[in-house]
Amino acid sequence: MLSGASPLLLLLRCWLAATFLWAPIRGCPEPCACVDKYAQQFADCAYKNLEAVPSGLPSNVTTLSLSANKIAELRRGSFVEVTQVTSLWLAHNRIGAIEEGTLAILVQLKNLDVSHNQIADFPWGDLRNLSALQLLKMNNNRMSHLPGEAFRTLRDLRSLRINNNRFSEVAEGTFEALTSLSHLQIYNNPFNCSCQLMWLKNWTENTLISIPDRNAITCAAPEPWKGLPLAKVPYLHCAPPSVRLSYHPNLDRTRLSYGLALALHCHALGLPQPEVTWRIQAAGETLEIKAPAAEGEGNALPSDGWSRGDRERFQAFANGTLLIPHLSKKEEGTYTCLAANEMGSNQSSVHVAVADAPAKDSAGSLGDRKAQPGDRKPEALKVPLAEQCRMEAAVSECDPGDQGCNPPSALKLTGRPGDPVTVPQPDLPHRVVGFF
Ligand SMILES: *[C@@H]1O[C@H](CO)[C@@H](O)[C@H](O)[C@H]1NC(C)=O
Ligand SMILES: *[C@@H]1O[C@H](CO)[C@@H](O)[C@H](O)[C@H]1NC(C)=O
Ligand SMILES: *[C@@H]1O[C@H](CO)[C@@H](O)[C@H](O)[C@H]1NC(C)=O
Ligand SMILES: *[C@@H]1O[C@H](CO)[C@@H](O)[C@H](O)[C@H]1NC(C)=O
Ligand SMILES: *[C@@H]1O[C@H](CO)[C@@H](O)[C@H](O)[C@H]1NC(C)=O
Ligand SMILES: *[C@@H]1O[C@H](CO)[C@@H](O)[C@H](O)[C@H]1NC(C)=O
Repeated sequence: MLSGASPLLLLLRCWLAATFLWAPIRGCPEPCACVDKYAQQFADCAYKNLEAVPSGLPSNVTTLSLSANKIAELRRGSFVEVTQVTSLWLAHNRIGAIEEGTLAILVQLKNLDVSHNQIADFPWGDLRNLSALQLLKMNNNRMSHLPGEAFRTLRDLRSLRINNNRFSEVAEGTFEALTSLSHLQIYNNPFNCSCQLMWLKNWTENTLISIPDRNAITCAAPEPWKGLPLAKVPYLHCAPPSVRLSYHPNLDRTRLSYGLALALHCHALGLPQPEVTWRIQAAGETLEIKAPAAEGEGNALPSDGWSRGDRERFQAFANGTLLIPHLSKKEEGTYTCLAANEMGSNQSSVHVAVADAPAKDSAGSLGDRKAQPGDRKPEALKVPLAEQCRMEAAVSECDPGDQGCNPPSALKLTGRPGDPVTVPQPDLPHRVVGFF
């Protein structure tokens, strides 16, 4: 690896050694040396303890060296005097901040070296204007975020160095637009070798671009691959989630009866297996329940702060099922299954409509009555309303409280005010779900 002074700096010093052959040019700021040679204007301000870009540089400067100074920040306007610059050397300074727009005016720039500084946030948008760039050295900084479109306009870029930074991710296609690229240094970054980086593994292994120090392109995460070169990590096949919702009983254009049990099932596929969250928008509120990751007792308790009532209203299972054991008007609303893995997210929604709840007090108490294992006897009920009405009961072929029991089906009964009504099929467990 290169030591502190780059060969380019040494080159500039050679040019300086030859300065005496050319007359010094007026307008060169005091600590710098300006040389006119081969129809190029060089301004050498390297190794001068400069804390800022000097002003008063000749406006036709094409090469500006500010390497090995003490410049801490570059402000918009730092280079307004030298917009003809094609080479800008800023390595080995203390640059921490570059204001947006500072570099964008240098549209002639072919070589830019900001390596060995302390840059954490680079004004990536400025690169859009620098479409003439051929060499871009950003290595040995503190950058952690590399936008996927950062290099999109750099069709002439031949050499890119982003090694020794803090990049953990590189988006797929980041280097795609760089059709002239022949050299890429990306080693010594703390890469997260998850699904999103598999493209880089594949790409680095198949590209013709020279990528030095491949064994130093290593993983900092996840744990099993920590310290391992990306090339030695097994290829992970990954896919973003796809989601399909199904339900029992059928919901299409139906109002479900009050008191029924409803099972929604979220079929979420993807690699890695997506995490499923249910978003329930009902009775004017939005609730979220995370499905448990592993098949356990089966019951996902909603997060803290939920009332006891909510826990009983919804049960999320690891297999993707959301059970609403006892439908009421409060459960009418939109149910969304959200599936996410590290490749992306996806969702699917269904609207659940519930028939009107029983209006009267006496009916309400019956309506909320849960089926009991003992509910196997024929049951006589008084129709409580003053006028003729219909009553609805739910019957099931098994105990609705048992796992794997299908939700009860509705049965409509009619009666006159005050009449006793007998529930048929006394052998089946049942519960009364409402009066209409
Ligand atoms: C740059 O400008 C100076 C005068 O300001 C002139 O003497 C010199 O020839 C110019 N150099 C180039 C390369 O245009
Ligand atoms: C980008 O370059 C164009 C000329 O190509 C210039 O007009 C514009 O001001 C530059 N953008 C910035 C932010 O300087
Ligand atoms: C690697 O990339 C090539 C195309 O660039 C593709 O055909 C191949 O399937 C990829 N390999 C894997 C393991 O995905
Ligand atoms: C969401 O899943 C469906 C299939 O269920 C799929 O067609 C679609 O492409 C997925 N959307 C995204 C953004 O992955
Ligand atoms: C998911 O598990 C629950 C509880 O074990 C069960 O009631 C439900 O039928 C299962 N769903 C599917 C689609 O297997
Ligand atoms: C690595 O990426 C995965 C998937 O995006 C993420 O869950 C994990 O938190 C990341 N690890 C680190 C250390 O950034």
